[in-house]
Amino acid sequence: MGRLSGKTAIITGAASGMGLSGAQLFAQEGAKVVLTDVVTETLERETQSLAESGGEVTSIVLDVASPESWNQAIDHTINTFGGVDILVNNAGIHQAKGILEAELEDWNTVMAVNSTGVWLGMKSVIPHMQTSNGGSIINISSIAAIVGGVPDAGGAAYSASKGAVRSLTKHAAQWFAQDNIRVNSIHPGAVFTGLAAKAGFTKESMGANYSNEIPLPPHVGDPSDIGYGMVYLASEESKYITGEELVIDGGWTTH
Ligand SMILES: NC(=O)c1ccc[n+]([C@@H]2O[C@H](COP(=O)([O-])OP(=O)(O)OC[C@H]3O[C@@H](n4cnc5c(N)ncnc54)[C@H](O)[C@@H]3O)[C@@H](O)[C@H]2O)c1
Repeated sequence: MGRLSGKTAIITGAASGMGLSGAQLFAQEGAKVVLTDVVTETLERETQSLAESGGEVTSIVLDVASPESWNQAIDHTINTFGGVDILVNNAGIHQAKGILEAELEDWNTVMAVNSTGVWLGMKSVIPHMQTSNGGSIINISSIAAIVGGVPDAGGAAYSASKGAVRSLTKHAAQWFAQDNIRVNSIHPGAVFTGLAAKAGFTKESMGANYSNEIPLPPHVGDPSDIGYGMVYLASEESKYITGEELVIDGGWTTH
């Protein structure tokens, strides 16, 4: 019996990085998993690969910034698996523009995916969780929500959007505890994923880049470091934890 047996999970941004790692670990732990993303080809390939290794999985294209897209994803989930117990709001985009460099369109684009997307996700699943046995919502924020971003990769809209996720998580945790719905945030530090690769890093160069800031070798995280955190917060092992911030950063924010 897996740690997530009998549960159905929706994961956004599941075609790569932390979202994909979460989907793989959730499937291993016995969850039925709905992988969602805007990147169709990779999404289908990764879902197929998980199904071939025995996972009970399905996928649907979901743009987290679109309410219509959320409606379709929820319908697909209910029709396929009969309900939803876990939501991982993981999809996110990064932009390294400061307050003075960013234009309004830049700001709105980041906010739409990173903050509005998380709100829409919760708004879409909570009514279904309220009429079943509750659920667990895991919002992927960042240490940028706590420390304001790092000089070389920081973005004003990014930090603000992740700060919104941090406080919205606590708001939802308070409001829906009575329905046995738990809401927690994960705050990754530097993790080597597609987001980092697009910014021009390799895992080694990213580790070298952060060796003075991140005390724990190799000074950069793997997607599964975050995926295991998702499993814990999704499972009954964390049944008395809500509104909490799980920082997974190799000790970066200790100084
Ligand atoms: N990599 C890091 O170091 C790091 C650090 C802190 C926080 N995070 C956060 O972790 C989360 C996952 O990031 P990652 O590093 O795995 O990145 P990633 O780029 O590997 O994965 C993000 C996924 O989100 C998808 N996506 C983008 N826009 C979308 C939209 N509108 N709707 C649905 N899906 C969309 C992308 O297609 C991609 O598959 C993000 O929220 C990110 O901000 C990452």
